[in-house]
Amino acid sequence: MAKIAVVGPGALGGTLAAWLANDARHDVTLCARTGFDRLIAETPEGVLNVSLTVLTDPVKATPVDWVFVAVKTYDSAATLPWLEKLAGEGTRIAVVQNGVEHVARFNELMPGREIVPVVVDLPAGRKAPGHVLQNAIGWIVVPDGPHGADFVDLFADAPMDVQAVSNWTSRAWQKLCLNCVGAFSTLTMRSTGPVWNEDVERMLRGLVTECAEVGRAEGADIPDELVEGLIERERNSAEGVGNSLYTDRLNGRPMEIDARNGVIVRLGAKHGIPTPMNQLFVTLLNASGSPWATK
Ligand SMILES: NC(=O)c1ccc[n+]([C@@H]2O[C@H](COP(=O)([O-])OP(=O)(O)OC[C@H]3O[C@@H](n4cnc5c(N)ncnc54)[C@H](OP(=O)(O)O)[C@@H]3O)[C@@H](O)[C@H]2O)c1
Repeated sequence: MAKIAVVGPGALGGTLAAWLANDARHDVTLCARTGFDRLIAETPEGVLNVSLTVLTDPVKATPVDWVFVAVKTYDSAATLPWLEKLAGEGTRIAVVQNGVEHVARFNELMPGREIVPVVVDLPAGRKAPGHVLQNAIGWIVVPDGPHGADFVDLFADAPMDVQAVSNWTSRAWQKLCLNCVGAFSTLTMRSTGPVWNEDVERMLRGLVTECAEVGRAEGADIPDELVEGLIERERNSAEGVGNSLYTDRLNGRPMEIDARNGVIVRLGAKHGIPTPMNQLFVTLLNASGSPWATK
């Protein structure tokens, strides 16, 4: 039986935890900031309603085989007390976050540990602590390195497309291309389709082209068609279809600005690639919310 701990059982962590706990081969513990009694996940395949151990104090945690970290990127450092108790000999730490810096971020926190970076396209939301809504089946990819097959096996009984891939870096940057354009609708609080004009297109094209150029410098394969497809998707987006950055701003929560756009600016500077459009949106988004909401 695999012992699994999920740190940050919010929208995504809660959804993954519910599917993992639904498999009799797994013993799942939730490590939460806000406690709750039962985990309910409304999924496209029906409702999962599971009773499992929910810890809110890291002191009570013990070593497990797998840790899933699914907190927002800006809360990563706050998981250290959990990780120090959960990580033992051979523990794998699966980092389920947006962006491309999963390994760097957690290598810094837990040097020498086995970090498995996870890219997910699985739209999920939170209704209440312990109550999540999975909006689509989605996909999950990890690198096909030493832990890839074991990770995929954890989800053998779940109706999800989970794969260990040889082009993880490309998949992560391709997802970042999708995420980085969300800065526009987050700033304007409008979908791009209804307000589309030449200037909007120029700004969207700037955001995604810069991301693609920096990603290519980092070794990712990002076809031109992907860039054009994303711009077309934004051109046709309907009002009210927000991304998670938009939802966080709408709800007065901190935003993952650095993991979604700041990283393009930082890594662009490393490669000598100008990223003025991402820099502009980082600056404006950081200035747009409450001081506490701009991490
Ligand atoms: N949701 C999606 O559809 C989706 C899709 C793809 C990728 N992602 C990425 O997945 C990551 C997680 O996103 P999410 O939408 O699941 O976020 P979320 O709903 O905000 O969940 C994060 C959870 O982490 C908890 N948390 C924060 N600090 C903690 C700590 N120190 N110890 C324990 N728990 C802690 C929060 O607790 P509280 O309940 O107290 O706030 C919350 O339950 C992000 O990087 C996001 O970009 C999300």
